Amino acid sequence: MKKISIHQFSVAPMMDWTDRHCRAFMRLATKRAVLYTEMLHARALIHGKREQLLGFPSDQSPLVLQLGGSEPGDLALAAKIGEDYGYDEINLNVGCPSERVQSGNFGAALMLEPDLTARLVAAMREAVSIPVTVKCRIGVDEQDTEQDLDRFIDVVAQAGCEHFIVHARKAWLSGLSPKDNREIPPLDYQRVYRLKQRRPDLHICINGGIETLDQCAQHGKMLDGSMLGRAAYHNPYILAHVDRHIYGADTASLTRAQIVEAMIPYIEDELAKGVRLPSITRHMMGLYLHQPGARHGRRYLSIEACKDGAGARVVLEAMALVENMREEAACRVS
Ligand SMILES: Cc1cc2nc3c(=O)[nH]c(=O)nc-3n(C[C@H](O)[C@H](O)[C@H](O)COP(=O)(O)O)c2cc1C
Repeated sequence: MKKISIHQFSVAPMMDWTDRHCRAFMRLATKRAVLYTEMLHARALIHGKREQLLGFPSDQSPLVLQLGGSEPGDLALAAKIGEDYGYDEINLNVGCPSERVQSGNFGAALMLEPDLTARLVAAMREAVSIPVTVKCRIGVDEQDTEQDLDRFIDVVAQAGCEHFIVHARKAWLSGLSPKDNREIPPLDYQRVYRLKQRRPDLHICINGGIETLDQCAQHGKMLDGSMLGRAAYHNPYILAHVDRHIYGADTASLTRAQIVEAMIPYIEDELAKGVRLPSITRHMMGLYLHQPGARHGRRYLSIEACKDGAGARVVLEAMALVENMREEAACRVS
């Protein structure tokens, strides 16, 4: 039987989305999925407000810090800071195609520079004792997705990276926005399967366009794991089934209402620290996706959470509204 890896399922790093509030919410739904931070630039960590950028509640493990950068010294220092903060792994971003990222010659632009990427990985590995991993694309621009990807992986693996998460599409470094770069270049899952066949010694996870746990199970036959981004964010209740369906845990999934209730102490703590309620509730909007009453609940929460002095009570009220409408809908059917 295939060994279950902790990386069998992960939620992708997403700038402005997978912040600590989002992760606190997701962690209630799944204890086992690997969660990633947003990408943080190494220099921002070195010179910025560390606690604000890196702080997280104690129970978010397994948690990966994603770094961006192209200076070995900066990345080594930033990785060490992340390790000291308690992150379980450090991941290097080699997939982001935004112009800001390219002007700093990091992100997806590093696909063109396997030797530099290898030096970055080596510098980080030297600095920390936790694993250093790479999230990349199958190529950029006119690169040959067979030979160039193979060379990239071989050179970076030689520097000690044993785990790659491959977004199964190319990135176009000019002409496409980051959003278009997540949608327009075609997905090529077979290419990622071939990579795993050629390098079975490496841990290869796949990312891009995956929407269901059944699809994860399909990829799991060929690969070491699946990473979901937008589907997990827009439909976070999918995460409530991960521990059972992906990791084989024998715990029951929490209901949506139980997840909301479990979120209340976190919300109260954060409000007491001066955080505004919408910064937290914006990540919870998808919990009742496609359920009767979901739109009403979202509208209630959007309006009420923005009011001065809005507290956790608003979240429970929005939930009660949707739960009542779901119950009414269920009665009508039966
Ligand atoms: C809003 C947003 C922000 C993202 N920010 C990052 C990032 O910081 N680092 C990264 O490696 N990828 C980032 N991505 C890309 C995702 O990690 C993922 O590779 C991509 O969305 C494809 O996966 P999906 O189809 O499951 O969403 C971002 C995606 C979105 C939608």
